[in-house]
Amino acid sequence: MENNTKILDKMPEILLDWFYENRREFPWRQNRTPYGTWVSETMLQQTRARTVISYYHHFLDLFPDIPSLAGAKQEDVYKAWEGLGYYSRARNLHEGAAFCVEHFAGKLPQNMSDLLLVPGIGPYTAGAIASLAFGKDESAVDGNVIRVFSRLFAIFVCPTDVQAKKEITSVVREYLPTGQAGDFNEAVMDLGATICTPGIPHCKDCPLSLLCQANLLDIASKLPVRRVKKDIPTFSYTIVVLTYEDKIYISRRPTYGLLANLNEFISLPGLLSEKEIQEWVMRVFAVTQMSDLAITKLENSSHVFSHLRWEMIGYHVKIKEKTASSSLCNFRDNEAGMGAFFQMEDARKLAFPSALKAYTRCFLLSK
Ligand code: ADE
Repeated sequence: MENNTKILDKMPEILLDWFYENRREFPWRQNRTPYGTWVSETMLQQTRARTVISYYHHFLDLFPDIPSLAGAKQEDVYKAWEGLGYYSRARNLHEGAAFCVEHFAGKLPQNMSDLLLVPGIGPYTAGAIASLAFGKDESAVDGNVIRVFSRLFAIFVCPTDVQAKKEITSVVREYLPTGQAGDFNEAVMDLGATICTPGIPHCKDCPLSLLCQANLLDIASKLPVRRVKKDIPTFSYTIVVLTYEDKIYISRRPTYGLLANLNEFISLPGLLSEKEIQEWVMRVFAVTQMSDLAITKLENSSHVFSHLRWEMIGYHVKIKEKTASSSLCNFRDNEAGMGAFFQMEDARKLAFPSALKAYTRCFLLSK
């Protein structure tokens, strides 16, 4: 670091001047509160700021403070999160709120060590809350900060390596301006989002271009180092949207694992033919006449998660009215999972994963 230190000494001051002229406007930056910072930083972890804005407003309208979030039903918290993905973030916020009610009188604690006790709050979120909302001199290092600093100091790190975060955090701490850490952290975020972008950065517009070691060496686009992505496995499913009169069959995913606790339609492994689906529905739902079912093909779709991919085909299977048997409506806990027929209006209140958007939008669009 020795060589860079002198030139980069001016970096915080130049960056802050740039930030005060160019900072982006976001609702969580106005009337900042610790809770609003927690919610927004949690939403922003995997999602673009532009997308977060409407979710942020909606979430705070529904759950304006920690006690109201702690007292909410998990289903309602998930519903407010619907479309944002990575639902473990919503679960953690909900659990974290309950923890704050129990241990911190319904408020977020101010210091790092207590913040880190709250379920779901890791070093990044704790640093962001402490610096942005409580004015503490703490760093908040995420992938964007790693990218900006790896370029500024020409440090060859891969953002996903545990070591990278440690190394960059120690550099950020060296340069944190006392009393202005929150602004500095947000300045780095804004620079990373608008100028020091992934791939090819906009060095010509960068206020730090004359100090940036990677720019001076013309290697900015090569940093941080990217590992070649391994192929992710694909899993195939047949989605069956089963309706009967004005009811729709919905099951709940298990309480652990991928998309835990979210709702879904019948989801069968493999890409099944119309005939296979017809036989399956007749067997499982005790439908005796083939003519009692109307089957239509729905669109194919796919969804990429961080570590796997789903490819899906879909069918709408309508059980015709004349089959009306009281047992059908009370049908629960069958082979399809922990499912039941729901009135459409009740089904619209349930949270579904974005992965099923192609199917929910046809049957349950409520927004
Ligand atoms: N990304 C992460 N934190 C952010 C913030 N506070 N403002 C804008 N983008 C962000």
